[in-house]
Amino acid sequence: MPKTIPQIIQKKAAGLKISMLTCYDYSMARLFAQTDLDMILVGDSLGNVKLGYKNTLPVTVKDMIYHAKSVKRGNDKALIVCDMPFMSYEISAHEALKNAGEIIKKSGANAVKVEGGAEIAGTVKALTDAKIPVMGHLGLTPQAVNKFGGFKVQGRGDEAQNKLISDAKALEEAGCFSVVLEAVPQDLAKNVSQILEIPTIGIGAGKFCDGQVLVSDDMLGVFEDFTPKFVKQYANLSSIIRQAVDTYIKEVNDGTFPAEENSYK
Ligand code: KIV
Repeated sequence: MPKTIPQIIQKKAAGLKISMLTCYDYSMARLFAQTDLDMILVGDSLGNVKLGYKNTLPVTVKDMIYHAKSVKRGNDKALIVCDMPFMSYEISAHEALKNAGEIIKKSGANAVKVEGGAEIAGTVKALTDAKIPVMGHLGLTPQAVNKFGGFKVQGRGDEAQNKLISDAKALEEAGCFSVVLEAVPQDLAKNVSQILEIPTIGIGAGKFCDGQVLVSDDMLGVFEDFTPKFVKQYANLSSIIRQAVDTYIKEVNDGTFPAEENSYK
């Protein structure tokens, strides 16, 4: 039985931190199921780390369902949130409902995540009214990369800070059960976390958020194309994988592999 949204919200009320990581496939989801991770995000960051795109914009609803389905098959412990990809919720609340419904029905994810503030509050309300739980995402919202002109820290200066605070309030009012704050100054994230009743989940937003999320390929040291400053690498799997593959090639070449124990009689 996966963790529930009321349990996640309750953690904030109890002063307990919430842990979340991205995940995109069955085998990693199985490993995560052997831990006490609270939430999994099937992030559209899969565009970068799994599909090799420069940003998340080309990711489709079909891509998200494909990956979320395999994650769900591997993990029935964590609450699974699936990103709604670029242009799957912006056109109209009707389109958003159709796409979010398809994601939830076909993948088995427990909730969806959308990027944006007050401008999408109507859509968030339509989704939550239709019993689809929604996580918001403010600050550096990667789907706005072209608008921002790159991946830059957001929420600096009074105007930007006030806007982020009113966006966070609008998302809470519209029914979001939590909000990701990405790449914003930690004092601002602290302020938002104190103002909102729902949990804030930080990524590059400092230690005062109610929970944290990281891209698993970054924190495990698998993805080497670029590493944002806010990432802490808890393992260096790239070098372990390279070493293993080098040893395999050597053993294939010198005939050490396969040995007797790897062969059938
Ligand atoms: O897609 C993703 O992985 C995300 C996180 C960066 C929060 O949205």
